[in-house]
Amino acid sequence: MANFEPVLSRNWHVPGSHTLKVYESRGGYKAARKALTQMDPDKVIGIVKDSELRGRGGAGFPCGMKWGFLPKDRKQTFMCVNADESEPATFNNRLLMEKDPHQFIEGMLIACFATKASTAFLYVRFEYINAYRILEAAIAEARAAGHLGRNIYESGFDLEIWVHRGAGAYICGEETGLIESLEGKRGWPRIKPPFPAVEGAFRKPTVVNNVETLCCVPHIVERGAEWFKSIGVPKSYGPKLYCVSGHVNKQVCVELPLGVTCRELIDVHAGGVWKGRKAKAAVPGGSAWACSRPKSWTRRSTSNRSASRAASDWARRPSRSWTTTPASSTTSTTPAGSSPTRAAASAPLAGRGPAGCTRR
Ligand SMILES: Cc1cc2nc3c(=O)[nH]c(=O)nc-3n(C[C@H](O)[C@H](O)[C@H](O)COP(=O)(O)O)c2cc1C
Repeated sequence: MANFEPVLSRNWHVPGSHTLKVYESRGGYKAARKALTQMDPDKVIGIVKDSELRGRGGAGFPCGMKWGFLPKDRKQTFMCVNADESEPATFNNRLLMEKDPHQFIEGMLIACFATKASTAFLYVRFEYINAYRILEAAIAEARAAGHLGRNIYESGFDLEIWVHRGAGAYICGEETGLIESLEGKRGWPRIKPPFPAVEGAFRKPTVVNNVETLCCVPHIVERGAEWFKSIGVPKSYGPKLYCVSGHVNKQVCVELPLGVTCRELIDVHAGGVWKGRKAKAAVPGGSAWACSRPKSWTRRSTSNRSASRAASDWARRPSRSWTTTPASSTTSTTPAGSSPTRAAASAPLAGRGPAGCTRR
């Protein structure tokens, strides 16, 4: 993975990376402008399908295919963005929102244009008060600069983003539990079918996507599907933010192509097992995934599930973390701010919308 250039985290080291000024100075919103002014929604869906981008929220479902499931004769579409990130030891969505919120907003804008959704609900984990505040400010900035609102880039497309703070429950990360919670009800998954694409938020056709999935979209539109497929391994393409925590020497969130081995993640990027000890097992996918033994840590992820199921599945389970023990707190390599606080509970809510949403 020596020649890999970070894609999703490329702006993180730049001072003020959360501001529109910095984002635009580094080529931000060019992909959205291209999509809205030079492409039609079907063409955008086509390029995302061709890229074979798989959802980073956990199920790994092909993103373009999901968008293509929306009924052709629909009158209204909603986009629900899953920023609940409640899997223990995962924090890559938080970093994406805090450090480069405009990359995420641009991804949402293109996804909404492709799916003809003029309303997006951004469901942010309750404890992510810092991310919530940064997003509110970034949405206001984007709106003032004409990247959101009415007739964006004079394309005739409108988009409003409502930020909704989550309910503080793991199950609200499941897409239909999230939708129930967004509607102001108990976060309890719905029986499927109907799937959200047919009947989702407020009983309308809805797309649910993860933060990291959407952050990949501007890069695909800008650089093309073939570029995206040049990163990763067959059937699992593109860049990925891996979180490593627990009993390792350096607890990190590192961007690498999909298909990296557990061994490389631990030994190279996380500085090895704590105090040079021998690890017994790792939890590759948060609480929802089985433990993986060290003997499987050198296998590369492939599309062949029977050949290397354990190793490939953990690497493809996108928003998941990798912990050598049950997750402990992260160190200074991972910015603080994910713990629940009283301040979070009393955060000011500007312009309340449906079910506790706020709009800028
Ligand atoms: C119990 C449970 C918890 C989940 N938690 C999350 C979560 O925190 N964040 C997330 O993006 N997806 C989560 N998912 C997956 C979502 O249901 C959904 O597949 C995903 O948000 C779709 O986005 P994607 O296609 O972009 O990956 C969870 C699923 C289950 C079953």
